[in-house]
Amino acid sequence: LEDSIAQPVGTTLERYIMRTQSEFPYATGELSQLLRDIALAGKIVSREINRAGLAEVAGAFGQQNVQGEQQQKLDVVANIRFIRALTNGGQACAVLSEEEDGIVHTGNVQGKYVVAIDPLDGSSNIDVNVSIGTIFSIYRRVSPYGAPATEADFLQGGRRQIAAGYILYGSSTMLVYTTGHGVAGFTYESSLGEFFLSHPRMLIPETGSIFSCNEGNWHDYPEYVRDYLTRCKERRCSGRYVGSLVADYHRNLLVGGIYLYPPTQKNPDGKLRLLYESFPLAFVIEQAGGRAEAGPGLGRVMDLMPTHFHQRTPLFTGSYSLVDELLGMETT
Ligand code: AHG
Ligand code: MN
Ligand code: MN
Ligand code: MN
Repeated sequence: LEDSIAQPVGTTLERYIMRTQSEFPYATGELSQLLRDIALAGKIVSREINRAGLAEVAGAFGQQNVQGEQQQKLDVVANIRFIRALTNGGQACAVLSEEEDGIVHTGNVQGKYVVAIDPLDGSSNIDVNVSIGTIFSIYRRVSPYGAPATEADFLQGGRRQIAAGYILYGSSTMLVYTTGHGVAGFTYESSLGEFFLSHPRMLIPETGSIFSCNEGNWHDYPEYVRDYLTRCKERRCSGRYVGSLVADYHRNLLVGGIYLYPPTQKNPDGKLRLLYESFPLAFVIEQAGGRAEAGPGLGRVMDLMPTHFHQRTPLFTGSYSLVDELLGMETT
């Protein structure tokens, strides 16, 4: 797990990307440009979010997405902004979005990469001014250059991700990502329009005292999950649940903890989507020394083989020893 050269806090995302690229002599700069394009879209969405109360981007859009969810206006706005930034940037030949049924072809047929994205994560929190996010996952295409992207480009599996990360629109806007050489966190300074390196090498504590799940689903939870949560309560751990995956995940990455979205009656395969929620966050957490599992005997999230674009998976992720302990509950 060789890390990127440690770079000083305060360096800009641009310098960080250039310095990281220089470590790879064969790098041609396309991935660097793709990361810039994602950061640009993140700045634009951050601005839209910060004025959501004022501009007419709050509230429902009035349509359902392929998930059967009522799209919020900001879901649609973020979706358009990221697809436009990736189209204009030229590096992505196609995009798979939570908000789109099928592959969105950008027209960049020479683009080497495809991007799976959750443009706005935590939609239920948009209108109540609670932190929300964007999650992205990048693959090198396997279909021939010059031809349109295919399903196979997006169904390569978690271990084939080239890069992954998220943007958290919280008390500050942060970009956190990995290219497989450690995890770096950048904080956005809107007055300068720049992301600055604030967390050079993010590592999740090996344990923690926070559990994050929607206990409203308690009566649907499998026995082993209820046993684990009961043990957390006996230990007087803290229950912290924002209801935005990115916000809960990021907090636990920083201070330690475990996030659980087990199977429920409504979502027997779990609620979170594999391609643009669980895979990217599993990549980041493993690079940060943590763990992401689909459940006892189901293996690491990163090793799951996807078959459908919008398929769901249970997700248990966070501090290594907490996830390990949860999985061990099944045998007791
Ligand atoms: P999205 O807003 O992208 O559809 O994702 C929502 C997800 C995730 O952000 C969050 O952790 C989870 O749904 C919350 O689900 P519940 O409301 O069922 O707890
Ligand atoms: Mn989401
Ligand atoms: Mn979403
Ligand atoms: Mn959604």
